[in-house]
Amino acid sequence: MAAGTTARTSAAAAAVVMGLLVVAAAALLSPAAVGDVEEVTALVAIRAALVDPSRVLSGWDAAAGGGDPCGWPMVTCYQGHVYELSLTHQNLSGMLSPAIGRLTLLQNLSLCNNAISGPIPDIIGRMESLQSLDLSNNHFTGSIPSTLGGLSNLLFLKLNNNSLSGPVPHSLATAPMISTLDLSFNNLSGNWPIFHARINVLLGGNPFLNTPAEEPLDLPIQNPTDTKDDSNIKDKRVRIISIVALSLAIGCAVAFITAIIVLHHRRWREQAIAVNDISSAISVTDSGLSQYSISTILILP
Ligand SMILES: *[C@@H]1O[C@H](CO)[C@@H](O)[C@H](O)[C@H]1NC(C)=O
Ligand SMILES: *[C@@H]1O[C@H](CO)[C@@H](O)[C@H](O)[C@H]1NC(C)=O
Ligand SMILES: *[C@@H]1O[C@H](CO)[C@@H](O)[C@H](O)[C@H]1NC(C)=O
Ligand SMILES: *[C@@H]1O[C@H](CO)[C@@H](O)[C@H](O)[C@H]1NC(C)=O
Repeated sequence: MAAGTTARTSAAAAAVVMGLLVVAAAALLSPAAVGDVEEVTALVAIRAALVDPSRVLSGWDAAAGGGDPCGWPMVTCYQGHVYELSLTHQNLSGMLSPAIGRLTLLQNLSLCNNAISGPIPDIIGRMESLQSLDLSNNHFTGSIPSTLGGLSNLLFLKLNNNSLSGPVPHSLATAPMISTLDLSFNNLSGNWPIFHARINVLLGGNPFLNTPAEEPLDLPIQNPTDTKDDSNIKDKRVRIISIVALSLAIGCAVAFITAIIVLHHRRWREQAIAVNDISSAISVTDSGLSQYSISTILILP
């Protein structure tokens, strides 16, 4: 009976393991199979929304250039998936298609130095793999999607030199990874959020953006050279030097007082031994105390 139970249990366990393997295999295979198609259709839609007078994107064509986007110009793949699009300085105008959101593994997107207009698609804020987003020097309008602050891998966000308006989303100030945030030269308004000191923030060139009423030390850094950090380090250094100097001063004072007490005590003893011999009292030591006594004696008359 025990043997029967064991056999039944192991058969059930085997069935469960097989089931898990099938599910795992399906999970591993299906996104890869669908992903390629998704990526091709996404890139074709992105190309269709852009105006490309220099025909730099003419290779983005599933029919003519083959179905593999990894061979297309300005597309970088890793393990068969699109990880990076770098379309900088390509005379592109038109709009950025929301189809960009279908490139779910995209880590770096740079469209800087073109003339792309229209809004930044909200869906970019759901592209969890994004590490670097550079849309600077274009003609983007509308507001900054607040969802961008929720991108947990985003390190580098440059939206400067566009025509973006509205407030700076507070989510950007609390974004977990962002180290560089350049929103300068737009038409942003409202108040500056308070950023962590470790974020390098550029917000200049937004004439309608108000500095916050908070304590001036908490102001975001407006300069790429980390002046706030520098002054913090300097403050800390000054504080450490003061503490060391104070300790030294106290130490010296204690040593000096002890020396005086010891000298007085010795002098008193020696004077007690040879009361008439003044020279012996003075020659006890070359210390400041003896000299002080002599100079006092010399100056007084
Ligand atoms: C952009 O356009 C200018 C002028 O039309 C041209 O000289 C330049 O080669 C173009 N750039 C690219 C990358 O095609
Ligand atoms: C993407 O951008 C990040 C941050 O700028 C950089 O460290 C990384 O090397 C880039 N990855 C690729 C594939 O270019
Ligand atoms: C952004 O615009 C400002 C003001 O027009 C200009 O001085 C600056 O060079 C521009 N930045 C870039 C990266 O083109
Ligand atoms: C910039 O923003 C201000 C305030 O929101 C608005 O009055 C102004 O029309 C905007 N300017 C441009 C060029 O969009």
